[in-house]
Amino acid sequence: MKKMRAGIIGIGFIGVAHIEALRRLGYVDVVAIATTSHAQEKADGLYVPKGYEDYKEMIDNEELDCVHICTPNSMHYEMAMYAMKKGVHIICEKPMTVTLQQAKELRDYAKEKGLIGAVNFTLRMYPQVVQMREMVKSGEVGNIFSVHGVYLQDWLFFDTDWSWRLEPELSGDTRAMSDIGSHWIDMVETIIGQKTTEVFADFETFHKTRKKPLKEVATYSGMALRPEDYEETEINTEDYCSLLFHFDGGAKAAVTISQVYAGRKNQQIISISGSKCSLHWDSEDSNELWIGRRDSFNQKAAKDPSILADEAKKVIGYPGGHVEGYPDTFKQNFHKVYTAIREGQNVQGDFATFEDGYREMLINEKVFESAKTRQWVCVQE
Ligand SMILES: NC(=O)c1ccc[n+]([C@@H]2O[C@H](COP(=O)([O-])OP(=O)(O)OC[C@H]3O[C@@H](n4cnc5c(N)ncnc54)[C@H](O)[C@@H]3O)[C@@H](O)[C@H]2O)c1
Repeated sequence: MKKMRAGIIGIGFIGVAHIEALRRLGYVDVVAIATTSHAQEKADGLYVPKGYEDYKEMIDNEELDCVHICTPNSMHYEMAMYAMKKGVHIICEKPMTVTLQQAKELRDYAKEKGLIGAVNFTLRMYPQVVQMREMVKSGEVGNIFSVHGVYLQDWLFFDTDWSWRLEPELSGDTRAMSDIGSHWIDMVETIIGQKTTEVFADFETFHKTRKKPLKEVATYSGMALRPEDYEETEINTEDYCSLLFHFDGGAKAAVTISQVYAGRKNQQIISISGSKCSLHWDSEDSNELWIGRRDSFNQKAAKDPSILADEAKKVIGYPGGHVEGYPDTFKQNFHKVYTAIREGQNVQGDFATFEDGYREMLINEKVFESAKTRQWVCVQE
């Protein structure tokens, strides 16, 4: 079988994760990367044949099947549009864009041209998340009463922690919500098969100012700064938010999202209460799913392809007892997207598309509006 050709724009934290996951697929060659400086040197370091300092040149020269956009959020729109105009399929990091209008344009253009536009909401590919989705779909959980949970991180805990994500012109108007809350609500809508109709949001920025380094800092680098290395900078996006959701099928949800929660590195919890049983999943123990019952024993379902639902089996690469995690969700997501690319435009997998990316931007926008107005806001255009 002919191998497919991928190009990666941006090789920070997540661009490198994309390269690793693609290599594990075996049928995709990462033929080039694009990054702003020392591109060929960085390509050599990653064992990628070609490095470009201009992403347009990479797209023009490399006959790519798919381009992966792994740069700060504000750049996604321009890069995705350029690639699509050259007929290249896209895997775009989340959040899809920084405005709803940009997301709408990308979604509509991909649809018009029959291109695959995927948004990298990979967490929905955890086997136990798919298992929850399948249990809800089969009726095993009953009517969904409520969902609650968290998405917690601590990498912005200190006021000396800095990232481009703290700059709205690069990251967008919301931060904790769009950066990590977007994953949580994408998973919940996917699992329960219901769409958000209304949101209520409470935002807080605990660090009103932060120490912005006067030199470049990579994501998650945890670099210590001296006073001469930074300037005190006002922060305009939220460290924390608590959100309430109403869904079109009658379910309700509550979540707390924080990037300043000491000790929690990257924890997602989803707890679902249904009329027949409850489900509880914690990303820190991602290979297990707790099933709670009133009239019988509670259960723990292990990530074991011999016992889980058929759709969950499809995103499992190893037998039971062999732990899989975050990097595997990338591999599974890319497998579904590249299969859709290879098999033609009419094949839709259960990966997140530009339609889902657009929807998530719509929720972001309404969450932001609710935080500003302190009122419930309807999720519609
Ligand atoms: N799906 C996930 O789980 C996940 C996790 C982390 C980040 N992300 C998303 O991935 C994107 C990147 O985040 P990150 O954490 O990797 O950031 P990062 O700062 O670690 O890396 C960003 C990279 O983009 C490069 N870049 C900037 N401008 C560029 C340009 N014009 N051309 C080429 N390269 C350019 C930078 O040099 C850097 O290497 C963001 O949209 C973020 O929200 C997704």
